[in-house]
Amino acid sequence: MTVLKTIFAQREYSMIETDFIPDTLNLDKDHGIVQYTSPSNIALIKYWGKLENQIPANPSISFTLNACSTTTKIEYVKLGKKASDFSFDLYFEGLPKEEFKPKITTFFKRIITYMPFLLEYRLSIHTSNTFPHSSGIASSASGMSALALCLMEMERSFTKNMTDDYFDRKASFLSRLGSGSACRSINGPLVQWGKSNFIESSSDLYGIPFPYDVHPIFNNFHDTILLVDKGEKQVSSTVGHDLMHGHPFAANRFKQADDNLGKIIGVLESGNIKEFINIVESEALTLHAMMMTSNPYFILMKPNTLSIINAIWEFRETSKTHVCFTLDAGANVHVLYPENEKDKVFSFIKEKLVPFCQNGQYICDQIGQGAKKK
Ligand code: DP6
Repeated sequence: MTVLKTIFAQREYSMIETDFIPDTLNLDKDHGIVQYTSPSNIALIKYWGKLENQIPANPSISFTLNACSTTTKIEYVKLGKKASDFSFDLYFEGLPKEEFKPKITTFFKRIITYMPFLLEYRLSIHTSNTFPHSSGIASSASGMSALALCLMEMERSFTKNMTDDYFDRKASFLSRLGSGSACRSINGPLVQWGKSNFIESSSDLYGIPFPYDVHPIFNNFHDTILLVDKGEKQVSSTVGHDLMHGHPFAANRFKQADDNLGKIIGVLESGNIKEFINIVESEALTLHAMMMTSNPYFILMKPNTLSIINAIWEFRETSKTHVCFTLDAGANVHVLYPENEKDKVFSFIKEKLVPFCQNGQYICDQIGQGAKKK
């Protein structure tokens, strides 16, 4: 089976930028509504460092989440004639949100070559998240992917016979131009992004569903997100990625991420959970080590982040369970564990870890299947 899948993955075609420029669009449609819900994702191998045009410096892989998601609806109306600038309104949780508009305008500018119809319609964008905006959970992955999917749904209605494969790939391609990690939110349960010799069909331009066999232990994997610090991000992702330019350890880090991808492919297949834990926790700590050793330097963990990590290590030792942690570019902790250990681990989380959360807040999430049309 693996051999067959491997051959299939290697034969899979790759696409280049120009493949995403539409040939002919029929823009007779003068109005419509599209809506998508798209999840967040949590990287097991971290994307940290990028080149021009949102090209990642190393490959990454993530679990797609389920509960943390953004729902976006676009109502579009044809303009009388092609405009010279983008015309849109933005509502966040029902209220106009002017401060989000520059980010969307930047995104539209980046994608206009691939979505030329954007200057022909006025858009009313309504968006909301399942998680609180100030939770410290990045909404860029779910938000940008939900928006890209809505735009793809528009494009689909202007096109004949668009394949689902093309739809997903271009949605991921566009999402990446909004926020790198967003390209890993279209599909599930595991998505890989970034060119690597370990996966022939991998691409720097879009994420692909992980093409190899996955051991059942990773089915329904849990991610309980502990909200340690809900404040504004101390380092924006743009600034963070920039810190990798001229970073003394950059070249080794990028190579390590690729080596770890090679390792995790085998681990995901064999179900070697001990090795999985080793790779995932090392990736999380390396991400933070990169921040601590860049210039300017940052410590994004809080004392409670460390208390949680130590408590997880102690519990794992004594309980013989397979709970582990990963981190994003912040103080919150993602606690990962398999379905068959959920009762034991969740009791531990509630009793020992939740006291370290700001206002006792946490989010129960789980590995998910990707975005959904509403
Ligand atoms: C630490 O995708 O937020 O979460 O491309 O600048 O929008 P931009 O960055 P972003 O970076 C995410 C970094 C990370 C690791 C990861 O998700 O792989």
